[in-house]
Amino acid sequence: MKKISINTLRSMKKNGEKFSAITAYDYTFSHLIEAAAIEVALVGDSLGNVILGHDSTIPVTVDEMAYHTSAVKRGNNHSLLVSDMPFMSYATEIKALENAATLMRSGAQMVKLEGGEWLTEIVYLLSQRGIPVCGHVGLTPQSVHKFGGFKVQGRAEAEAKKMIQEAIAIQDAGADLIVVECVPSTLGTALTAALDIPVIGIGAGASTDAQVLVLHDMLGISKRLPKFSKDFLAGANSIQDALKTYSVEVSNGSFPGPEHCCD
Ligand code: KIV
Repeated sequence: MKKISINTLRSMKKNGEKFSAITAYDYTFSHLIEAAAIEVALVGDSLGNVILGHDSTIPVTVDEMAYHTSAVKRGNNHSLLVSDMPFMSYATEIKALENAATLMRSGAQMVKLEGGEWLTEIVYLLSQRGIPVCGHVGLTPQSVHKFGGFKVQGRAEAEAKKMIQEAIAIQDAGADLIVVECVPSTLGTALTAALDIPVIGIGAGASTDAQVLVLHDMLGISKRLPKFSKDFLAGANSIQDALKTYSVEVSNGSFPGPEHCCD
């Protein structure tokens, strides 16, 4: 199977081909994700919730991210491997450079950072030094306490406009991908049209260039299934089958359906 690179994803956007991403935290699942030919494996800091049992992603450390990144790397030679930079690990330029280097040395091929305009200098710095960056806007879970809970973002027109401007600023600073989480589908559509880089949605409607789900949610084994997710294991013969169905439904546009939107 051909190794996925940022060039593959860029040309998929250009050709209107949708791709899928999924979170991965260990070697065995990473291997199943490779076998399902899923384009992006994200070592999400959601591991704080689904692996470590925290009630948010805030306690997750760089060492924990590096440990899981190296396990995922050993299981998969196909998917582009993106690792989350955890809470406060990119609060200053020097921290961002050192912590991104730790994740890249562990096997990440791109790092993901949550935030808007304030992040542009850090994105620029990382990308100038050869570190591919994925932005993350909308409902950014590391800011859950600032939002006052896990709430849909960008409902008001001014807020939506600001989010698009911030995403463009992150792209212009050098980001190669961007995740948009939990926004109305009209905003998911507008963001995808406004950006040249591929946009990966989660709870952002069907028009984004790609979809991402938390592995434990899409296997129906999380404590609570978010509205924007779907239990692909229900009705499947195996985990491998569920992963493949997810990938097929994203590429043929049948997932997400209107019932998975945050409108
Ligand atoms: O940590 C994570 O799993 C994520 C996805 C939900 C996009 O950031």
